[in-house]
Amino acid sequence: APSVGLVGWRGMVGSVLMQRMVEEHDFTKINPVFFSTSNAGGPVPELEGVDTSETLEDAHDIETLAKLPIILTTQGGDYTNDVYPKLRAAGWDGIWIDAASTLRMDDESIIVLDPVNRDQIDAGLKNGVNQFVGGNCTVSLMTLGLGGLLRNGLVEWGTAMTYQAASGGGARHMRELLKGFGTLHDVVADELKDSNSAILELDKKVIEAQRNGSMDVTEFGAPLAGSLIPWIDSDLGNGMSREDWKGMAETNKILGRTGDNFMPLESVTVRIGALRSHSQALTMKLTKDIPLDEIEDMLDNDNDWVKFVPNTKEASVEQLTPVAVTGTMDIPVGRVRKLSMGPEYISAFTVGDQLLWGAAEPVRRMLMIATG
Ligand code: HSE
Repeated sequence: APSVGLVGWRGMVGSVLMQRMVEEHDFTKINPVFFSTSNAGGPVPELEGVDTSETLEDAHDIETLAKLPIILTTQGGDYTNDVYPKLRAAGWDGIWIDAASTLRMDDESIIVLDPVNRDQIDAGLKNGVNQFVGGNCTVSLMTLGLGGLLRNGLVEWGTAMTYQAASGGGARHMRELLKGFGTLHDVVADELKDSNSAILELDKKVIEAQRNGSMDVTEFGAPLAGSLIPWIDSDLGNGMSREDWKGMAETNKILGRTGDNFMPLESVTVRIGALRSHSQALTMKLTKDIPLDEIEDMLDNDNDWVKFVPNTKEASVEQLTPVAVTGTMDIPVGRVRKLSMGPEYISAFTVGDQLLWGAAEPVRRMLMIATG
């Protein structure tokens, strides 16, 4: 079995990755070498199929890393920035698989989302490409959900309004959101026991708690519980957030659309109080008038994970929410209808688990392709 260096397996995305690798019996297909940035010499994780007589290697030890034909990291962008150039400078020509954004838009990288761009990945492997990077979570989830239209080149332009979960920021962000919910509940707990208490009194106490500095906003910079934050990632200075920009740049890269073929896909990316599933509402102009039932079939049949949800209240409320999707590999897509602007205009709403298909799964599958 091929040896694979694993870095960042203890973090949130890494933990989800390990869980998926156990579920898919991946450890029977590779020889994992676990690295740590802080605990070299310590025990490797006890996972089904993993030889626990080994110990952790030092994730900054270039010589040890360079012995491996494949390295997969979910350690984050700072680690990639630090270690990756040193590894290449040391002459390493192995395959680097990374969940961080650092190398994503590099010309030498392929953004991996094999149900959508397997041909790009296969051609890359054949041609000696050795940087394979998981896409931004919103991009991967949207591209999988709308694969039926995007892969057939049927979208002339689109906009995505996102509803992104706290997990996209990280584990601490999830905790901050949950603490925030707790604070809000605490300030009105007594009044809630009395179903006749004046609702405007509760409302007043909640907004006071959100405004008086009593809530922890270390991670998000503003209270998220009971509110939203219409900006994700850094300010590019041109009216776009980095997350807005990724939506267009990465999607086009995954689809191999450049130059005249570049697809305008604008976003307004918004953080909401969901825990780990990202949602997005899309408006699209199609390249032609396609009957709605054909659109539905194309969406539903594009890949094994997308699930078309009929555009009814009942189905949408039941199947098209973060609560329905979290912890599953499903990418439901629904709220599809023709819009009043004209027969080529449609809406759609899609949801996906930000840690599974949004982060861990594309790189896990790339690992299996590279070792297969
Ligand atoms: N930038 C994304 C977010 C997560 O903050 O939700 C990483 O892809």
